[in-house]
Amino acid sequence: MSELLQLGAPNERPRAPKAGEVKLNFSEQGIAELEALISHYPNKKAVILPGLWLAQREYGGYLNGEAIAEVAFRLNRPYAEVEGVATFYTLYNTAHEPGRHKLELCTCLSCMVNGGYELRDHICAKLGVRHGETTADGVFTFEEVECLNACDRAVCMQVGDQYYGPMTKESVDELLEKLRNDPDSTVVEYANSVVRTQLRDVEATPK
Ligand code: FES
Repeated sequence: MSELLQLGAPNERPRAPKAGEVKLNFSEQGIAELEALISHYPNKKAVILPGLWLAQREYGGYLNGEAIAEVAFRLNRPYAEVEGVATFYTLYNTAHEPGRHKLELCTCLSCMVNGGYELRDHICAKLGVRHGETTADGVFTFEEVECLNACDRAVCMQVGDQYYGPMTKESVDELLEKLRNDPDSTVVEYANSVVRTQLRDVEATPK
């Protein structure tokens, strides 16, 4: 049985900042983008999901308590409400700070029968991590995930906003080498591409 199914995913909650500790870190560009999003939704509550993507980009890929508090402050919503949304969806990085690249390997049915568990074991042995852990050098976080809806590419792996597959041990090794030499965070790039898509959608939608 998959280790993921045996153990369940780690689900630490972000530490909420104390009152008076909240610092606002959004860039001017991020504030302007949030305002653009707010102007196209019926109320600020409806902006929590896109606001969290923006915060994930602005905070370097990690929604810690400060990031969640800033979204709550800027949307005038309770911290607990925003934290509840952020920790419900695994696409938001709240359990721990991810590495520069998050490897999300599918081991659901189609990928499992095509060697997903063997690839998982290969990656974990090569990087010295288990599900949900980050390498000591902060480059890679590994996560075993459920179906990525790309079963025709089994075994499929997501890194940032890209899908790779069908993966083999050789193609995994090649990809890891390429990513290791990539100084840009695919975690941040992924959050940014979601923000850009949301802004394109709101710009195309009449108020
Ligand atoms: S089972 Fe892996 S992408 Fe669907």
